[in-house]
Amino acid sequence: MINPELAEWRDKFLRNTGLELDLSSDPGGFYDETLRLTEERVPARFARALATHPDLLAWMAAAVYQAPPRGLGLGPSESVLLLGPTGTGKTWESFGVVRGFAACGLRVKWRHVTQADYYALLRPRHGIDPEEEFRGVAGARFLIMDDLGAAKESEWTEEALFRLVDYRYREVLPTVFTSNLLPVAPKRKPGAPEGPPSLPSVLGERVTSRITEMAVQVDPLDGPDRRMGTA
Ligand SMILES: Nc1ncnc2c1ncn2[C@@H]1O[C@H](COP(=O)(O)OP(=O)(O)OP(=O)(O)O)[C@@H](O)[C@H]1O
Ligand SMILES: [Mg+2]
Repeated sequence: MINPELAEWRDKFLRNTGLELDLSSDPGGFYDETLRLTEERVPARFARALATHPDLLAWMAAAVYQAPPRGLGLGPSESVLLLGPTGTGKTWESFGVVRGFAACGLRVKWRHVTQADYYALLRPRHGIDPEEEFRGVAGARFLIMDDLGAAKESEWTEEALFRLVDYRYREVLPTVFTSNLLPVAPKRKPGAPEGPPSLPSVLGERVTSRITEMAVQVDPLDGPDRRMGTA
């Protein structure tokens, strides 16, 4: 059974984008099962998340349009770079995308990792093959790579991030990247103190260059930090 708020979101999404999906019959319960599989994995805080950002909705519409009906689909597709200050709803919107795909009958093998989680997965641990962990994240059909730039960097993490981004770049695997960083380093006069951190200054030029090519940069989210109760 679809959650009523999500059903309302889906109907509006289909109306606004002109997409036609026939979800009236559900042979074998595929659609219900798709929703269940997604909803049980979305973290509790984002259980009611809905995508609202207009550019994100347009990107979703293109992905849904290309996917086969009731498919296991989401083929090669562009990614999204969602920027904005802390607490403005980037993670919320990202889980809204996952729920929205499921509501549209798209069963997608998705993963959500923060950059720090991703590094933790790759660290050598007894009985765990880091390469398998890498493939699980890098090869996910749809990936939310959350909080880019929030983890401590070292040579090892730089390499790990580069491998991930480069793999998804090469395979054109859809990814939502989120970050608090600025998209480009602000210009500064020689000798002036370093400005606020940016994608290239924190992630390096090679990672930034790939993300810039592979991802649609949607309008950054703004507004107050919703966690501070001022929204
Ligand atoms: N549209 C929304 N409606 C209701 N609650 C929301 C909405 N967007 C965000 N929130 C809530 O606001 C809080 C902050 O949202 P979120 O965690 O998505 O921010 P963020 O931009 O990812 O922040 P950070 O950069 O610190 O990771 C969360 O508790 C989230 O559930
Ligand atoms: Mg977040």
